[in-house]
Amino acid sequence: MPATASRPLRAHFRPPRPSPGLLPRVLSPLVADLGIDPGTANTVVYAQGRGIVVQEPSVVAIGADRRRVVAVGRAAQRMIGRTPRDITTIRPVRGGAVADFEVTHTMLRCFLRAAHSLRGWPRLVMAVPAGATSVERRAVRDAVLRAGARAAVLVDEPLAAAIGAGLPVEEPAGCMVVAIGGGTTEVAVTSMGGVVAHTSVRVAGDDMDEAIMDHVRWRHGLIIGQPTAEALKIELGAMRPCAGDRTSLHGRDMVTGLPREMEITAAEVREAISGPLEQILTAVEMTLSVTPPELAADVMDRGILLTGGLAQLPGLDVVISERTSVAAVLAEQPQLAVARGVGRLVEERALAGRLLHPRRAAWS
Ligand SMILES: Nc1ncnc2c1ncn2[C@@H]1O[C@H](COP(=O)(O)OP(=O)(O)OP(=O)(O)O)[C@@H](O)[C@H]1O
Ligand SMILES: [Mg+2]
Repeated sequence: MPATASRPLRAHFRPPRPSPGLLPRVLSPLVADLGIDPGTANTVVYAQGRGIVVQEPSVVAIGADRRRVVAVGRAAQRMIGRTPRDITTIRPVRGGAVADFEVTHTMLRCFLRAAHSLRGWPRLVMAVPAGATSVERRAVRDAVLRAGARAAVLVDEPLAAAIGAGLPVEEPAGCMVVAIGGGTTEVAVTSMGGVVAHTSVRVAGDDMDEAIMDHVRWRHGLIIGQPTAEALKIELGAMRPCAGDRTSLHGRDMVTGLPREMEITAAEVREAISGPLEQILTAVEMTLSVTPPELAADVMDRGILLTGGLAQLPGLDVVISERTSVAAVLAEQPQLAVARGVGRLVEERALAGRLLHPRRAAWS
C-alpha cells in the first residue's frame, strides 16, 4: 500500500489522550464543569456558574488534505456552498451521531476551549439521542474525552430537554417531550426521572431542507443550496396559509447552467416538506400508542412540550395537537432546552445523582 494511503488511517487510530495526572486532579475544583448538547445543526455548551457560553453551528471548514482547519462554527457555516476546491465544509454530526470522528473531535476541542476560561480538564454532562446505539454513544464520548474532557456522563436528549424546560420529571407522572432538531426527532414520555416510552427517528429539519431542494430541482429545474432551502423553510414553512406567502429565490438553471430567479409560494414549500412532517407526526403517534394508560392520561392533562429548533415552525404545535388530540406547547427558547437541562445537571449535583446512572453520576 502506498505510504500516503495509510496516513489518514494512522491518524484515525492515534492513541487516546493519556488520562490526566495528579496536577489536573488537584486543580479540578478550579475548573468549571460543562454541559454540552452536540447537535446535528448546532452545538450548545453550558458552563457551570456562567450559563450558556457557546451556541455555534456544528460545521467545520477544512482543507481538502483534512489537516488545515480553516474555520469552525458560525464562520464555517457562512462558507457552505462558497468554498474553493481545496476547502470543504463538513457537518461531522449526522442524525445526532458522530459521522466523522476526526472532524467531530476537532470541532468539540475548539468549542470546549472557547467554553472554559481556565486551561484544564473539565468534566462534562453530554446529551445524546435516546435512540443512539452503544457504539454511537461510545464514539461521541471518546470524541469529547480526546477533545480535552476529564470525564463525560451521558444523558438522553429528551430527558435533558424536559429538565431544561422545567418539567417535573422526578414525579410519578407522565411528561411528554417532542424534540425536533436538525437531524433527529426524539419523542419521549418521562416519569420518575426516567424515560418510559420513546421513539427516535432520524428525520427532522435537514430532511425538510433536502425535500425543498429536491422539489425546486425537479419541479422548476433550478438547483439551490442547503442554506437557501433552509431560509425558505423558515420563511414559508408555516403550517397554515398566511399573508405574503410567496418569495423569490435564486439558483442555477439545470439546463442552461446559468443563474436564474423564480418565485415560490408557501403552498409549494408546505407540499415539499409534507413527507418529513408526516414521519415526525407518526413518531409522536407511535409513542403515545405505547405509553402506559396512566401516563397517557397525565400527558392528556399536561399536554406535549415541543423543543428543538424546528419546533419553531409556525403552526407545528397546532398540527401536532390536531393529530393527537393533546395540546402541544412550544418551550421557551426551544433550541436551548437541552443545553439548559444538561446545565441544571451540572449545577445541581443532587439532581444529577438521582437522575443519572448512579455509577456514572459519581463522574467515574
Ligand atoms: N425559526 C425557525 N423556524 C423553523 N425551523 C427553524 C427555525 N430556527 C431554526 N430552525 C431549524 O431547526 C433545526 C436546528 O435545530 P436544533 O439546533 O435544535 O438542532 P440540533 O440540536 O443541532 O439537531 P439534533 O438535535 O437533531 O441533533 C434546523 O433544521 C433549522 O433549520
Ligand atoms: Mg438537538
